[in-house]
Amino acid sequence: MDSPIITPSAVSRRDFIKRTSIGASVLSGVSLPFVHAAGDDTMRAALIGCGGRGSGAASNALSTKPAIKLVAMADVQKNRLDASFEGLTGKHPDRMAVSEDTKFIGFDAYQKAMDQLRPGDVAIVATPLAFRWVHFKYAIEKGIHIFMEKPVIADAPSARRMLELNEEAKKKGIKVGIGLMCRHCRARQELFDRIQDGAIGDIILARAYRMQAPVATCFSEKRDEKLEPSELLWQIKRFHSFLWASGGSFSDFFIHNIDEACWMKNDWPTHVWGSGGRTDRGNFVDQNFDNYTCEYTWKDGTKFFFEGRNISNCQNEFATYVHGTKGMAVVSSAGHAPSNALILKGHVPVRLRESKSARIKKKSGDAPAAVEAAKLPDSVLWAAKQPEANPYDLEWEDFIDAIRNNKPYNELERGVAASVVTSMGRMACHTGQAVTYDGFMQVQHEFSPNSDKLTLDGPAPIKANAEGRYPVPLPGITKDREYNDMA
Ligand SMILES: NC(=O)c1ccc[n+]([C@@H]2O[C@H](COP(=O)([O-])OP(=O)(O)OC[C@H]3O[C@@H](n4cnc5c(N)ncnc54)[C@H](O)[C@@H]3O)[C@@H](O)[C@H]2O)c1
Repeated sequence: MDSPIITPSAVSRRDFIKRTSIGASVLSGVSLPFVHAAGDDTMRAALIGCGGRGSGAASNALSTKPAIKLVAMADVQKNRLDASFEGLTGKHPDRMAVSEDTKFIGFDAYQKAMDQLRPGDVAIVATPLAFRWVHFKYAIEKGIHIFMEKPVIADAPSARRMLELNEEAKKKGIKVGIGLMCRHCRARQELFDRIQDGAIGDIILARAYRMQAPVATCFSEKRDEKLEPSELLWQIKRFHSFLWASGGSFSDFFIHNIDEACWMKNDWPTHVWGSGGRTDRGNFVDQNFDNYTCEYTWKDGTKFFFEGRNISNCQNEFATYVHGTKGMAVVSSAGHAPSNALILKGHVPVRLRESKSARIKKKSGDAPAAVEAAKLPDSVLWAAKQPEANPYDLEWEDFIDAIRNNKPYNELERGVAASVVTSMGRMACHTGQAVTYDGFMQVQHEFSPNSDKLTLDGPAPIKANAEGRYPVPLPGITKDREYNDMA
């Protein structure tokens, strides 16, 4: 693919990359020391978005030492907050300082929860991505460090806004963690260093896969208005189905593998093209395709192929491989953790069989051979030390260490860049056009411009047609945006 079509270039990608410093996990920033009243070194945390990952992230945070106390929780659904509170209280009874008065429900709940914190404390944000900039803005105003789950944006206006906000965060020394936990995996960090030192020669190709049965809420049938009277709340509950809420299945599921391939290459792609479609739309009314294929190009011309699929009963793969002039690297081979990272002579992949739970049964095709750690074949030049620590814990250990010891720490630009590169791939497949990094950054279509003004009884950012169906991408027909709103 030689002539990308979406190519406005007022934003210098080179400058952007320079500022993004892809290899580094910690960027510079002014310091905001963690200092409270004499004798009180207990950091306070507030959880905003008390679902599966929010509860997990809070648990990771509360597991760090010395003690952090969770003092407030916020959600738009009371049942999710209650379940999270119960689960966290069971796991961390001595770290929970949330009372009935500091549990908040609603779209403004995040403000009330952050109001329970002092400057230098920490907010944990794990709502769907549409609210990231809203929550980031308030945390900056309050001088609160913030951990935000991935992805951080799904469209260019939000990317630009997040980068602008980050300038303010940097001035105030606010530390920002982004939930791309694989970046904190020690095995992948060592692999990155080895690749940069030439262990596989020059990288000539990368390929990554997230091919699975449909997961989470990526496909949705028509809303039952009796059971779900609020269209907005229903869309939030099924956020993987809607581009405004999550960037769809593409952004939400695929970002980690796309990010780790770019990390190993130490570059963000200049452009991408791709294709995708929905094999069987059936009664589903959401916005996602069920398969996506992308060819990304890095600035030295080398390619990165990404395959994503959400279809049952197919051969699955959840892995990232990087090939060089001297051999190849397995960046991950069966999900996020353990990485089971390897450096291999030649280009025949090997899957390290580290634990029973990590075993994946392969039925056919080009599946890498699974080997026991004790019997590595001669082609393995280096293997990550086992067992590997959990990267979800490591990202919190690194973040809290930076806050407590006042080390520079701001992952926002990297998180935005990873989210942009992921969104570029999605946009390329959804429009049928090639998309450049610069071109994407100038797209004007904002999926949810009023994320800061939504109310529980107000309208949703996207509406269904009379049949209850939501607008879907039409490659080659709708070319400069991913969908048109229903008339
Ligand atoms: N890093 C990872 O590996 C990983 C894994 C899973 C999820 N995630 C990310 O975490 C985020 C949440 O995913 P999840 O699986 O926990 O979803 P979830 O539906 O289980 O939880 C989301 C919670 O946020 C709440 N919420 C929605 N909008 C809100 C708002 N405006 N204010 C307050 N609360 C709000 C919902 O009611 C829900 O309880 C997503 O961005 C997802 O991509 C990351």
